[in-house]
Amino acid sequence: MTNSAISNDKVLNTKVMGHRGAALLAPENTLASIRAAAEAGATWVEIDVYLIAEGGLVIFHDDTLERCTNGFGVTREATPNDVAKLDAGSAFSSQFAGESVPTLLEALECIQFLGLGLNLEIKHDGADVENIVPTVMAMLRDHWQDNDKLIISSFNHNAMLLCYEIGDDRHLAQLYEAIPSDWQVQLEAIQAYSLNCDYSLLTETHARAIKAAGYKLLCYTVNDPESVTEYWDWGMDTVITDDPTKFAFLLAP
Ligand code: G3P
Ligand code: MG
Repeated sequence: MTNSAISNDKVLNTKVMGHRGAALLAPENTLASIRAAAEAGATWVEIDVYLIAEGGLVIFHDDTLERCTNGFGVTREATPNDVAKLDAGSAFSSQFAGESVPTLLEALECIQFLGLGLNLEIKHDGADVENIVPTVMAMLRDHWQDNDKLIISSFNHNAMLLCYEIGDDRHLAQLYEAIPSDWQVQLEAIQAYSLNCDYSLLTETHARAIKAAGYKLLCYTVNDPESVTEYWDWGMDTVITDDPTKFAFLLAP
């Protein structure tokens, strides 16, 4: 496999990516949030995929249901039938009452219908890497059309290694909070397309080294353009933001 980090420059054609859809504009990780990102002019969204009971895949961030829905308990233990009944909108605002937790398939269909690119972040219960990664990859194989509009990311390096082993020539992103000393070894091991990191922990030295090594550099979660003014000079390619309207000056009209 070639190093897609160096060979493929047409994938990430935007400086602005919506986070969890557009988490400040609509309930995070819902179809309403994905639509809000598109309406704000974003052409890419990041969402989180989570494995639940019975092999179900849903768009959800947390290990428990309470914060974002009217349900309670451990997300991993909820069945698809349980999750389908949840209200994921009211916790954000009554305007979104009845908004559901999307399945991965629903989200893939919505995102492609809107013509957006997708950064799909794989979340998982600690023991679930071997269970979620092949299931997600199979779903993408069957239901995602344009490989140049897809990045797969995870904080878990073993999950990314498994994505790489499964192949499908996907664009892979290693996610970090603070960047570890062996980041280059980890990125080479998965022939990464990008390094995605917490902007507040990023140094200029790291940013310039990542770019010199040929990788795209994405930073989360940036909600104030002024907080990353100098990062563009360091080579940052894209911000992942809860509110793409704040970055309208970087989006095409
Ligand atoms: O993918 C970037 C960002 O979403 C990672 O953190 O916790 O918001 O999923 P989190
Ligand atoms: Mg995420």
